[in-house]
Amino acid sequence: MTTIAVLGNGRVGGNLATALTQAGHEVTVADRTPGAAADAARTAQIIINATPGTGSLDRLVALREELRDKILVDVSNATVDGPDGLPADLIYPGSSLAEQLQEALPETHVVKTLNTMLFPVMTAPATLTQTPTAFLSGDDPQAKQTVGELLTDLGWHKEWITDLGGIQTARATEAAILFVPHMIRSSGFTPFAISITR
Ligand SMILES: NC(=O)c1ccc[n+]([C@@H]2O[C@H](COP(=O)([O-])OP(=O)(O)OC[C@H]3O[C@@H](n4cnc5c(N)ncnc54)[C@H](OP(=O)(O)O)[C@@H]3O)[C@@H](O)[C@H]2O)c1
Repeated sequence: MTTIAVLGNGRVGGNLATALTQAGHEVTVADRTPGAAADAARTAQIIINATPGTGSLDRLVALREELRDKILVDVSNATVDGPDGLPADLIYPGSSLAEQLQEALPETHVVKTLNTMLFPVMTAPATLTQTPTAFLSGDDPQAKQTVGELLTDLGWHKEWITDLGGIQTARATEAAILFVPHMIRSSGFTPFAISITR
């Protein structure tokens, strides 16, 4: 049992919180109420960022003390939205939100994962017609192992999880958001995930 703080109570945060609670973890969800994120993060071993990527850096840097020596799982995507409200471009081209977070929070172990799929897949990967991939990016091997174990609690088979390497590899998975507006326009909100097959 791990104590987990989920920052953001939307589609992603709510879905993850429910599934992690069902898996036996002690989960606190923080909405945007002032102080809620700090309170939740202070007592948690693992903090999940499920808030909009825009503003995530400022929000999380403000939690520097609460995040010290903890694992920060970043599932967010930092995008500029187009006129239709769908993601149109990256906020950190040539870098990534995860890299910016790791640089700003050197005493926190940032792990990027689950940002390459629509939210229902995060907690039900076996429901797709083909095997999805969950990518891990992060500089700390132990933190990635811990997050990988959380993914197995969410239904991810070990062989569906790919450790891409250091935090810089998150720029590849964050760029995958550029598929999303085109997939939604062509297929609606039918759940999908980026998958590597061989
Ligand atoms: N939806 C997906 O399928 C999907 C897939 C992969 C990754 N992601 C990423 O996951 C993150 C969350 O997406 P989502 O679809 O769950 O979004 P969402 O449904 O809009 O939920 C966002 C949550 O963050 C909260 N929030 C917004 N601004 C905040 C602030 N300034 N301070 C604290 N909390 C704030 C919102 O609170 P309010 O309700 O009060 O606004 C809401 O609880 C995003 O970064 C997104 O790019 C989403």
